[in-house]
Amino acid sequence: MGVDSADDAGVYRLDESTGLILTVDFFTPIVDDPYKFGAIAAANALSDVYAMGGTPLAALNICAFPPEDDKNMLREIIKGGADKVAEAGAVIAGGHSVRDEDLKYGLAVIGRVEPESVVTNAGAVPGDKLVLTKPIGTGLLSTARKKDAISEDEFEPAVELMLTLNNKASEAMIEAGANACTDITGYGLLGHAGEMAIASKAGLAIDVFSVPLLPLARQCAQNGNIPGGAKKNRDHFGKFVDGDPYDEACWGILFDPQTSGGLLISVPESKADDLMTQLQKESIDAAIIGEVIPEPKGRIVIRS
Ligand code: CO
Ligand code: CO
Ligand code: CO
Repeated sequence: MGVDSADDAGVYRLDESTGLILTVDFFTPIVDDPYKFGAIAAANALSDVYAMGGTPLAALNICAFPPEDDKNMLREIIKGGADKVAEAGAVIAGGHSVRDEDLKYGLAVIGRVEPESVVTNAGAVPGDKLVLTKPIGTGLLSTARKKDAISEDEFEPAVELMLTLNNKASEAMIEAGANACTDITGYGLLGHAGEMAIASKAGLAIDVFSVPLLPLARQCAQNGNIPGGAKKNRDHFGKFVDGDPYDEACWGILFDPQTSGGLLISVPESKADDLMTQLQKESIDAAIIGEVIPEPKGRIVIRS
């Protein structure tokens, strides 16, 4: 599986029983604490492996570092990343750094999956329930925090959420026999849901009031703390969306770019309760947010 399917990662079939998952992600700091930035970047990069139903094996650091910056800070970032990779049961195998104006950090990750167990974003079947495993709002809260519109304490739930691996959610989805999955990252809930609808040649109906939100996410959107990425996402993916949410702030929420967001899982209706029970057992703040419908193919229908 390669670049043409707009899926979370590439998959290379090594032999009958082994597929290698390949993915890479890096970005500029979204939190002040260098250790937490490293850990969030790692959780985010690892997420694409979990979204494919795989297990991470090893990762390589990618770092762009301004020459005048404190070397201690770089060590903290790398340590945060390494600890998160270790939590995922994988190892750091090396990496590469360059000097650059803007600090950037992330990882290339390799994972494994049995070829017949790959969970793509193309398998959603009409009648499936859609389960989201993390609340939305990391982009809104990050934007509000940068403008000092919310305090460090108010931002903390977003940081905790971004630090959380999608490993347990991925295990639960495999156990439940999910038909399709993607993780919610830069394109926001509707962008990634739109990619699933297109790849699956089905419609995705989303109940706006069922979408779980971080505390203050709605307030941030109402106060105009909407990231530039949300507007770009709406410009690009808005044409795949039918229906209107009940207010303008809602668009900001539904297109909010997530960092290290949750999994969007398409699961047979008969398995949805089992999946929800298992996610709750793992203390995952998941919700059923809609369903897969036969028409309109390749589109999102907003219900509110
Ligand atoms: Co992804
Ligand atoms: Co992706
Ligand atoms: Co990615």
